[in-house]
Amino acid sequence: MQVKDNTFLITGAASGLGAATAERLVAGGGRVVLCDLSDAVEAHAERLGEAAQAVRGDVTSADDIQAAVDAAVALGGDRGLAGVVHCAGVVSVAKVLDREGHPADLEAYARTVQINLVGTFNVMRLAAAAMARNAPGVDGERGVLINTASVAAFDGQVGQCAYSASKAGVVGMSLPAARELSRHGIRVMAIAPGVFETPMMSDIPEEAVEALSASVPFPKRLGKPDEFARLAEQIVTNPMLNGEVIRLDGGIRMQ
Ligand SMILES: NC(=O)c1ccc[n+]([C@@H]2O[C@H](COP(=O)([O-])OP(=O)(O)OC[C@H]3O[C@@H](n4cnc5c(N)ncnc54)[C@H](O)[C@@H]3O)[C@@H](O)[C@H]2O)c1
Repeated sequence: MQVKDNTFLITGAASGLGAATAERLVAGGGRVVLCDLSDAVEAHAERLGEAAQAVRGDVTSADDIQAAVDAAVALGGDRGLAGVVHCAGVVSVAKVLDREGHPADLEAYARTVQINLVGTFNVMRLAAAAMARNAPGVDGERGVLINTASVAAFDGQVGQCAYSASKAGVVGMSLPAARELSRHGIRVMAIAPGVFETPMMSDIPEEAVEALSASVPFPKRLGKPDEFARLAEQIVTNPMLNGEVIRLDGGIRMQ
């Protein structure tokens, strides 16, 4: 599938990895619907010009995401919604037991899973329903769904029970969804980023960023959002990429 003249839904598009992906896809001649909870999404769509539209929405809401999918289908015209790059997500840190031995807050745990995992499924199911109605392209392809996991799905650190479990769920859905949606010509992929320089990481103290950078085998730095966007673009354009999770991490293995 080509980027040019196709329409993509990008979630989490107001910031970080989603914002960079929207920029790259527009630069490649694509059209994008940017969906995010944050009102910053409107300013980003304006910056990107005519090829971009903003839809404020929460990925855990069926109505919000249906509205974003409908906007992308309308923007896509005859071609409909060709692809999704789902980047919306939250990070959370909580130990199973705190210093005094009190158990972690269950609602906070469930909130992380709701946004990162249930939100991913919500976007996937509604986008797939729209894509299944597309006219088939080369090889019978109708669409591509790209989800965002994390290396924390594989090597989660202390305090990451909720985040790691939510991202492991995203990893776990990739193959069964790809198998099922293959009959509609829809591919499903996930990217598992290491540590990237985005607002999500901005609360981390300078020394911790230096330590994280030093722990990347090569290159010894945090990933840049456009490096994520370049992989998303490659997944869009390479039809043999399906049912797989790609680590994008400079070789880092979290301790
Ligand atoms: N930055 C990293 O190092 C890193 C590493 C691994 C995985 N990830 C994952 O990449 C994705 C993007 O992260 P980022 O670093 O760009 O973060 P970010 O905080 O810069 O952007 C995330 C965006 O998601 C939006 N969002 C949050 N909850 C939402 C909801 N319920 N509905 C709609 N939008 C919502 C936020 O408003 C924000 O604009 C996340 O899923 C994150 O877990 C990031």
